[in-house]
Amino acid sequence: MEIFRTIDAVRRACKAARRAGQTVGLTPTMGALHEGHLALVRAARESCDFVVATIFVNPTQFGPNEDFAAYPRTFEADCEMLAREGVGVLFAPAREEMYPAGAETWVDVPGVGGRLDGASRPGHFRGVATVVTKLLHIVGPDKAFFGQKDGAQVAVIQAMVRDLNFDVEIVVCPTVRELDGLAMSSRNRNLSADERERALVLSQMLGRVERVVAVGQWDAGALRRGLCEALQDAEGVRLDYAEIVDPLSLKAVEDVRDGALVAVAAWVGGTRLIDNVVIEAEAVR
Ligand code: PAJ
Repeated sequence: MEIFRTIDAVRRACKAARRAGQTVGLTPTMGALHEGHLALVRAARESCDFVVATIFVNPTQFGPNEDFAAYPRTFEADCEMLAREGVGVLFAPAREEMYPAGAETWVDVPGVGGRLDGASRPGHFRGVATVVTKLLHIVGPDKAFFGQKDGAQVAVIQAMVRDLNFDVEIVVCPTVRELDGLAMSSRNRNLSADERERALVLSQMLGRVERVVAVGQWDAGALRRGLCEALQDAEGVRLDYAEIVDPLSLKAVEDVRDGALVAVAAWVGGTRLIDNVVIEAEAVR
């Protein structure tokens, strides 16, 4: 695996691959890799000849009082994992390479990007949309791979790609979970053993919503109230949001029968976790 630190060098490698007739797949990450990230890399390997992974803890998607400094960084282990998965190129730029002095252009998706995490973390999705735009322009992939774990992020990127006519296919991969149901996340590393246990309530309550939907409760308002109450009652957990929305617009839905994203965010100790389940339209018909 070749590791590139500069935009020029990685761009040359990607251009050479494309000229050689290879299809290019991109898997953007912030590192501290786990099986969720590796699932994206494997999906990319399966459908693209040349896979580019990126590791960049993007400062512009963190608010001033958020966990940029505390975000886990495990670069050596990440490189080993990616090399083992057969990734051809890793792009791991420094902050100044991505945001040189004087950079002032942003990509903003104000509607979708202002909902869910965009409402709780103002400016978050502007940072995400901007860095993903830059990575797509630098690498020029045929396909870019994202995880359903970040359901609102998927909606923002899909809106951006649609509205700005990016020539790329966005592939969404299912959420990878620990055996007990906890959604894998780099931030799980910051949980104590006790917090790790308390965090289980997120996936458990989402699972309960799925079961209630399966037996015919389709009223999103009632489902949401039950979910909020369960999470508000959970000890050691502070609910940020629990919403039932259209997966593309992220606007609240009244009934889940046309499909819905059930998304939650909560603080467990000092760590903010998110999780979601998708209710498929055909699943409730
Ligand atoms: P990061 O949190 O490192 O996640 C990188 C990619 O891995 C995202 O597409 C995310 O949805 C996916 N992912 C994370 N946990 C997952 C899980 N348990 N199952 C499946 N996929 C999972 O998301 C970001 O970084 C950043 O916002 C980024 C897109 C890289 C822009 O900076």
